[in-house]
Amino acid sequence: MILKPFMREGVMPLPVTFISTVSAGGVRNIAPYSCIMPVLRPLDLITFASAENRDTLVNIRETGEFVINLAGADMETSVIPTARMSGPEVDEFEVAGLEEKPSVTIKAPGIMGCYAWMECSFVKEYKEDRYSLVVGKVLRLEVSDDAIDEAYHLDVDKAAPLMMTGSKKGMHFCTVKETQGFEPFAAMFPTGVDPISKTSNR
Ligand SMILES: Cc1cc2nc3c(=O)[nH]c(=O)nc-3n(C[C@H](O)[C@H](O)[C@H](O)COP(=O)(O)O)c2cc1C
Repeated sequence: MILKPFMREGVMPLPVTFISTVSAGGVRNIAPYSCIMPVLRPLDLITFASAENRDTLVNIRETGEFVINLAGADMETSVIPTARMSGPEVDEFEVAGLEEKPSVTIKAPGIMGCYAWMECSFVKEYKEDRYSLVVGKVLRLEVSDDAIDEAYHLDVDKAAPLMMTGSKKGMHFCTVKETQGFEPFAAMFPTGVDPISKTSNR
């Protein structure tokens, strides 16, 4: 089957994250964001694509900070309440019935009930006509203790990361499962040594 070029997320499952911010006037905001990716190992940068008309983008420009909340499949029911367009004066924690998780390094709170939280500062914006690519620096990364082990291996059965694919009809939610495959990073290098392990505190 040949798909229209814009149907990339039809064949590419994307994570469903929730970005929480606070406006300059103190109003709390939440929005689901799926067009998101880390910028290379071992950097601490993360980037996401945002349409221009998002309160999230306005808040990030004004306050310079945001939290990327990683949700489990049990938070599927929070997607639409936070995705509905609402005015900048609306507190979306209240609308969605979500509780805030105070952040440590920034004022914007995270969301209770997620399995991981990235407290971020705004680094740079690549602005186009109708959208921006936003780059953030992860200042603090916290993961729920029962979702990860000492080697930082995420238990995907416990975390059940919320993902989605897009079809002609809309969004289909899913999660991930392990194949039990494993390779050390060093396996990619002819020397058998991972050069990045020297520069990161893994
Ligand atoms: C699963 C899902 C993923 C989304 N991903 C993005 C995204 O990556 N970028 C974006 O600009 N909007 C995305 N949206 C749309 C915004 O979440 C939505 O427009 C929201 O109302 C924006 O809220 P805000 O104006 O409070 O920031 C997504 C919506 C859903 C349901």
